[in-house]
Amino acid sequence: MVSTAPMSTPEAPDHPATPPEPAPAPPGDEARGPTFRAGDPCAFLQPGQPAGHMTVLRPGRTANVRGHLLRHDDLIGRAVGDVVTSPQGGVYALVRPTLAAWTAFMPRFARALDPREVAVVLAHGDVFAGARVLEAGVGSGGLTLALLRAVGVGGRLVSYDVRATSLETAAGNVAAWFGGPHPAHVLREQDVYAAIDPRDHDLDRVVLDVPEPWRVLPHARAALRPGGLFVAFLPTILQVHGLCEALRDTGVFPEIATWETLQRRWHVGRRSVRPEGDMSGHTGFVTVARLVAAPMGARAAERVSDADQPEGAADDEAGHGAGGGAE
Ligand SMILES: C[S@@+](CC[C@H](N)C(=O)[O-])C[C@H]1O[C@@H](n2cnc3c(N)ncnc32)[C@H](O)[C@@H]1O
Repeated sequence: MVSTAPMSTPEAPDHPATPPEPAPAPPGDEARGPTFRAGDPCAFLQPGQPAGHMTVLRPGRTANVRGHLLRHDDLIGRAVGDVVTSPQGGVYALVRPTLAAWTAFMPRFARALDPREVAVVLAHGDVFAGARVLEAGVGSGGLTLALLRAVGVGGRLVSYDVRATSLETAAGNVAAWFGGPHPAHVLREQDVYAAIDPRDHDLDRVVLDVPEPWRVLPHARAALRPGGLFVAFLPTILQVHGLCEALRDTGVFPEIATWETLQRRWHVGRRSVRPEGDMSGHTGFVTVARLVAAPMGARAAERVSDADQPEGAADDEAGHGAGGGAE
């Protein structure tokens, strides 16, 4: 039997449309204009090499692009899209790198989520401008950059990692991309299995890239707002199964979904249109679960997967399953 609470008038949004105080000036990523300034990331584009070489422009430095030397002082002040020629005769367009290309290029010591996984985290994890998000672990800050861009200066991102070196690398990568520390970002050396700091509660999203995210569930339940989303990236399906079991056992995550995204790039030439020869077969899974305010029973989440069973195998309360015989 389904009980219904009286409906109230239209719900207030989670966040007011306008912040109570003016937001601070946006960091570089959002504010960069049509010309390159010192401190801006810059990519040297050549036809057929979309990712190209990239750097942060600094007065007095020289970029070495496959043996072609370009003085940063000659590039600072140039318009985005300008085409320049090196003293060695190389021709390059100066563009702002995409965040996806920059993340693959920046200093890293741990595997960063790749663009297809970042896309699933942001879209199905529904990370919105102004959201309060907790992320662990940080690694080199690949996902951190995408989350910061998504929450914007009006949101808040707290990033935990157990390794100080990870936090240092990530802080450097954030500063390089945004042109300085991001005003909405807090980094903490913290074991997320041990606790989520009460200062970091009242969250819209918890986003995890750690090996045992089920160990975070007790803290996430306390730290997430009801209706908030728990998002976890995991490389193996056994980990995913363990996580989904743990989520169901709580009774307060009635909506659970897991995605694996396969991505194939195509070569589109004038005379040849075909898939690229190499393709990354698998990297990992993204699981998203929504927290509700009170237990609804483990079966509520189980029935979602029952729908995938062969006809007749599921036995739901509406009598549409084996032997149910809807009339
Ligand atoms: C694969 S890396 C994360 C990569 C990152 N998501 C990215 O896109 O660049 C995993 C990180 O989790 C951290 N980690 C592992 N266990 C942790 C825990 N219990 N609490 C916080 N961080 C943890 C590790 O130190 C490591 O830096």
